[in-house]
Amino acid sequence: MQSTHEFIAAHKDRFLAELLDLLRIPSISADPAYAGDVRKAAEWVANNLRAAGADHVRLEETPGYPIVYGEKMVDPSAPTVLVYGHYDVQPADPLDLWDNPPFEPVIKEEVIYARGACDDKGQVFMHLKAFEAMLASGNLTCNVKFMIEGEEEVGSDNLGNFVAANKELLKADVILISDTAIIANDIPSIDVGLRGLSYMEVEVHGPNRDLHSGVYGGAVANPINILCQMISSMHDEFNHITIPGFYDGVLEVSAADRAAMAQTPFDLEAYQKDLGIDTVYGEKGFTTIERASIRPTLDVNGIWGGYTGEGAKTVLPSKAYAKISMRLVPNQSSAEITRLFTEHFKAIAPKGVKVKVTAHHGGEGYLMPTDSLAFQAASEAMTTTFGKEPVPTRGGGSIPIVALFEKELGIKSILMGFGLDSDAIHSPNEHYGLFNFYKGIETIPHFFKNFASLSK
Ligand code: BES
Ligand code: MN
Ligand code: MN
Repeated sequence: MQSTHEFIAAHKDRFLAELLDLLRIPSISADPAYAGDVRKAAEWVANNLRAAGADHVRLEETPGYPIVYGEKMVDPSAPTVLVYGHYDVQPADPLDLWDNPPFEPVIKEEVIYARGACDDKGQVFMHLKAFEAMLASGNLTCNVKFMIEGEEEVGSDNLGNFVAANKELLKADVILISDTAIIANDIPSIDVGLRGLSYMEVEVHGPNRDLHSGVYGGAVANPINILCQMISSMHDEFNHITIPGFYDGVLEVSAADRAAMAQTPFDLEAYQKDLGIDTVYGEKGFTTIERASIRPTLDVNGIWGGYTGEGAKTVLPSKAYAKISMRLVPNQSSAEITRLFTEHFKAIAPKGVKVKVTAHHGGEGYLMPTDSLAFQAASEAMTTTFGKEPVPTRGGGSIPIVALFEKELGIKSILMGFGLDSDAIHSPNEHYGLFNFYKGIETIPHFFKNFASLSK
């Protein structure tokens, strides 16, 4: 019989061809126009999982998009790994900034370009193929359950209920997730933290109709001007957030941990060059790595109102809107931050306008221990395949369901991701290196092997 490694080597071209098929399905969960495609992606994943040899593969229906479930129970005395990921993707716009259509994947210089290539289809698919290879080579030493959802990019609204209602089904010793990044291809790392999120939408309402900006301008509160003032007042000159109580829950990181973080390899030049900026920016007293991981933030994600069409229209808008996200750190409560923001935004609204605040999705941050068997299994797996011990890092993004898994199921997650921050997830020209794709497929079986033997 072939070894797992040999099986992967013998089938690597097919693995890639299959991934490209999955990437052709525009499973954009945020846009109802793609509802049929999101479902098609779920079916595709289920079929592929079935073909790989999983049992009881099915679509678990929810009020939103289905969750793909499948399992392989090899030995009741062996540990169980629950693999979580998502088959939905972010919208692809602005389309004109893509060098190739986002759902017509192309490979250029060993890199796959497509929406979802890294986040998260490419990374989910590594697990399907690693599983197929382990099973085919007789090396599946852990029981495995797959739970691949289709609403991660829109807040996983239905996954929480599914998890709460299926505790027995989802029983496992660890949750394994590849939906994060490593520092560089020659500097492996494991995320041991995620940020939480509060996502708000605000509306500022001034006069009852759009007005001539000459006839009324200067005499009536302009909602866009006011909204901009309100937004800019939420940071002080040190880039601290001014919402009262905002930092109350923040888990401060010890000087020793910050000193360790300062040792994580970070190339400021390359970082700036990748982004086309000549300097970084952020909260006073913190490094770039810290600003993007252990510190909470407040950012406008979109702002609109008034006239934005061709040419000029002299108009004083009746309403202005913004979408504002706050990234939170462990121990800050998303519900509490949402409440503080809402109160504050209403409190700072000047006379002459009315404001409305609505909360979109949110979620809690996560901090994971580095002294667990699962962490050791992941660390040793990466050490084997990268030839270098992974560095523990704190990620800046959010996967709110991770904190919920722990709360509902009492199971900890391991974030063994293989992307790169420069993979342009959520941006035009999202991509994923073939190096990373194949490295993931190679590394995952080592995790299973290590986890099984460490659990004995
Ligand atoms: N995979 C990302 C999260 C991520 C990216 C974590 C990089 C760490 C490093 C995930 O798909 C994502 O985009 N999450 C959303 C959360 C959401 C929509 C509730 C996010 O972080 O904006
Ligand atoms: Mn993701
Ligand atoms: Mn994402």
